[in-house]
Amino acid sequence: MRFTTGILFLLLFTLLLLISTTENVLSLDWLVDKVPFETTLKKTNRGTLVLSNALVSREFLLEPDFATIDFRDNHTTKSSLLRCVKPEAIITLDGIEYPIGGVLSNAHCAYFNRTLFWTNKTKDPMAFHFKSYDVLQPQAPFKYTPKRHAPSDIVWPPKGIHLKVYFQAPWYAPMPHQYVIVSVNYEMYDGIPLIVKWLEVIDVEQAGDVDLSFISVELLAVNLPWSPMGHYWLYAETNQPGGHGTNVLWNWDTELWTVPGSLPVLLNCTYETDHPIIIPLKGRITSFRVHELVIASSDPERVGLSKHRLVRLLAPHTQENPIFFHMIDSSSPAFRKAIDQLAEVGFEMLIYSFWSGFNMESDDEKYIEEISGKLETDIAYANSKGIEVGGYDLIALTRQVPVQWMAIDPNTG
Ligand SMILES: *[C@@H]1O[C@H](CO)[C@@H](O)[C@H](O)[C@H]1NC(C)=O
Ligand SMILES: *[C@@H]1O[C@H](CO)[C@@H](O)[C@H](O)[C@H]1NC(C)=O
Ligand SMILES: *[C@@H]1O[C@H](CO)[C@@H](O)[C@H](O)[C@H]1NC(C)=O
Ligand SMILES: *[C@@H]1O[C@H](CO)[C@@H](O)[C@H](O)[C@H]1NC(C)=O
Repeated sequence: MRFTTGILFLLLFTLLLLISTTENVLSLDWLVDKVPFETTLKKTNRGTLVLSNALVSREFLLEPDFATIDFRDNHTTKSSLLRCVKPEAIITLDGIEYPIGGVLSNAHCAYFNRTLFWTNKTKDPMAFHFKSYDVLQPQAPFKYTPKRHAPSDIVWPPKGIHLKVYFQAPWYAPMPHQYVIVSVNYEMYDGIPLIVKWLEVIDVEQAGDVDLSFISVELLAVNLPWSPMGHYWLYAETNQPGGHGTNVLWNWDTELWTVPGSLPVLLNCTYETDHPIIIPLKGRITSFRVHELVIASSDPERVGLSKHRLVRLLAPHTQENPIFFHMIDSSSPAFRKAIDQLAEVGFEMLIYSFWSGFNMESDDEKYIEEISGKLETDIAYANSKGIEVGGYDLIALTRQVPVQWMAIDPNTG
């Protein structure tokens, strides 16, 4: 009798455990637990596409045109970030501004009335229109193999899904623009509430006489709490931040005050200029990438840990973090003395810095011949002590290096 009761309890317990698994999975903390879900792209029964990894999801309309119609946090707040539908992106070709996809609706944008949206959505005749999409694997933007104490189980490129959506010019676009295809790219990875987005503009005729500028790589109408004006639950950055010409703008949308009490925030990821950057389109041009990390918390600890996870995922080499030393004297005695000290205190790398006396940029055969023997023996000495040797160089327009090194287009500046 006791035995059967035991078995029954065990069965009941297992059953309860099974029932609660799906619930529990969603209450896992992605910063602590391994999330046992793969990224998926699924067609819903209302004809939309949902890109999801259980932590975050983005839903796309395909008819009457391609548009982001939902962006949800499924790990913490279980709510939608979106208050309105916008174009997927905006570019100009020869000065003509084209929205990329998106749909129009008469609904106000104070909050997302999905009922109204579904009955009133229409195609935007001015926009580049949805053509087709491809489901791909994320590609590594550069080669990487873990070394220098980086975790050996790093997965590179990260596992996930790359959704590539193609758009073609509207009927009224001038002839050269009819040869332009725009692709909007989304990547989502397993186990992190992150979406990466970028644009690619392809001139299929390769005529090269089309001038392109990117106005918005991402334009997202978000609900207040997700913005810096609210709780800043959505962290957005570009992969070329700080002085590389990109900008993440959080502004009030034009319909501010049109509905009493509404505080409509607009995220606009763009180039940081007071005028459009015009680039002649020859072949294809790819924009910067936007990283959208749905932290869903304003706790400084969670924010910091979440950003670290993003960097470790997309720039895995940062986990090597060797302890290095900038050497500004390249003479053999000084170099060897430094190496001895570095080996003693546990440094891992020495870098010939600016003004070290070693001119890394020289292309003078005689100079190279003169110094290579000395460098070789010095570096062999460093290596024998377990220290790697590298060099530091700064390549920037402001340095005024030889003119053939200045990557400035002579026609466009
Ligand atoms: C995300 O959460 C919402 C609401 O909690 C739920 O309706 C939806 O099915 C979830 N989506 C995914 C892809 O898990
Ligand atoms: C939405 O569409 C319906 C049917 O076409 C129309 O009667 C209604 O006025 C529209 N609503 C708005 C807010 O434009
Ligand atoms: C949303 O739109 C529908 C259809 O126009 C309307 O009946 C409903 O009252 C709206 N809901 C809200 C909360 O505004
Ligand atoms: C987004 O930023 C760009 C560049 O500053 C600007 O030209 C554009 O008008 C902005 N878009 C919106 C909708 O505010």
